[in-house]
Amino acid sequence: MKRITLSDQLSFSNIIQGFWRLGSWNYTPQKVAENIRECLDMGITTFDTAEIYDDTACESLLGEAFATDPSLRGRIELVSKTGIYKQEIDGSPFVYYNTRYDRIMESCKAALKRLHTDHLDLYLIHREDACIDFEQTARALTDLKKDGLILEAGVSNFDPMKFDCLQQAMGGTLVTNQIEWNPVCFEHVNSGMIDYLTLHRIHPMIWSPLAGGRLFTSSEEVCTKAMAKIRAIAERHQTQPDVIVYAWLMHHPVGAMPICGSRNPERAKLAVQAAEIELEHYEWYEIYSASGQQVIR
Ligand SMILES: NC(=O)c1ccc[n+]([C@@H]2O[C@H](COP(=O)([O-])OP(=O)(O)OC[C@H]3O[C@@H](n4cnc5c(N)ncnc54)[C@H](OP(=O)(O)O)[C@@H]3O)[C@@H](O)[C@H]2O)c1
Repeated sequence: MKRITLSDQLSFSNIIQGFWRLGSWNYTPQKVAENIRECLDMGITTFDTAEIYDDTACESLLGEAFATDPSLRGRIELVSKTGIYKQEIDGSPFVYYNTRYDRIMESCKAALKRLHTDHLDLYLIHREDACIDFEQTARALTDLKKDGLILEAGVSNFDPMKFDCLQQAMGGTLVTNQIEWNPVCFEHVNSGMIDYLTLHRIHPMIWSPLAGGRLFTSSEEVCTKAMAKIRAIAERHQTQPDVIVYAWLMHHPVGAMPICGSRNPERAKLAVQAAEIELEHYEWYEIYSASGQQVIR
């Protein structure tokens, strides 16, 4: 498996396993550990979670999995996220964004406890905070790095302006933006975010690379149109449609790292196989324009 360099001290497997949906898999800690070992066997060493996934339960379950097999933590790169905050207000839960200094520090320390680890390899600000103080957020992330609680810092779902502002406050040390990108989602292509990252040689982590499965299951026109083209290209390459979608994401010079969200390691294997597929440049554009959302003028 190809490695992607994020910084002098951190590299990721090109394909990442994500655990957003872990709560719905009804896995025991032993079964989670087994899933991680199966990923490791195919070269996937990087794993993604977040504080907000199942209200912290996802981090807790991963921590329990590490406790069942203490050798695991040292063999992987662990990513988590902060910034989406659920607070009880007047007896009801209220979810909002909080990237202030004290919240980030408290959130990270609690995550480390849940995950049974002394550090995260990468810590991300999960979503854009409309009320962000860039200097304050940067100070928190920098202090966490200085204290050895995180190796590197990044963001998720940031637009180019917010990314650039925080990047400046961080002295250029943000190592990624985790963004949604797939054949029916072009938000970050159209915002210029992908161009910004390409220019600065910053590799994005890609969430919902298969549109959360909608590509295969949805009757929405954008999905059926995209899938008809993806299936035709898969036939040309004598492979499966999933493989083509991952190959399409990795064809772009930005050097994307797709995060596979399936519970099924056989489906992660399809992502791994994509490294062997060389798409023609015209095929990239066939998929780019297939859903009808992007027009080639
Ligand atoms: N930063 C953020 O804001 C953010 C947001 C969302 C997600 N993420 C991260 O990105 C990861 C991946 O996101 P995702 O789970 O949406 O990714 P995804 O890989 O696009 O979607 C996974 C879903 O698609 C289904 N699926 C896969 N192949 C299929 C097929 N051939 N036919 C039918 N269904 C299929 C899977 O079902 P099975 O499990 O049954 O295979 C699973 O439910 C998450 O785990 C999380 O770590 C980050």
